[in-house]
Amino acid sequence: MPAAKVFGAATFYSMLSTAPRGAHIVRFCEDAPCHVAGGRAVYDAIRTTLGLEPGQTSTDGKWTFEMTSCIGVCGVGPVMMVDDDVYGNVTAERVVEILRKQ
Ligand code: FES
Repeated sequence: MPAAKVFGAATFYSMLSTAPRGAHIVRFCEDAPCHVAGGRAVYDAIRTTLGLEPGQTSTDGKWTFEMTSCIGVCGVGPVMMVDDDVYGNVTAERVVEILRKQ
């Protein structure tokens, strides 16, 4: 199989990566319903708490922070995920609590 085909698949699917990721993947929904529900404050809290910008991995290898499109639970926005766990009605205050559990 040509390397270009493998690279194309690896860069198309968000579950795959061509660079090392952290032990925990934090995803924040960036779509409009979550945004209007107060997502900006949650986004800022994740960035501040992790000390990461979207797409970055912490130097200790514990965290990777990514943005995601709608994950289908808009009714409980703002929404974030940590690995396979989905958290709804997230507030800036809850971000620290959610991340501390990992
Ligand atoms: S817009 Fe955020 S879960 Fe749908």
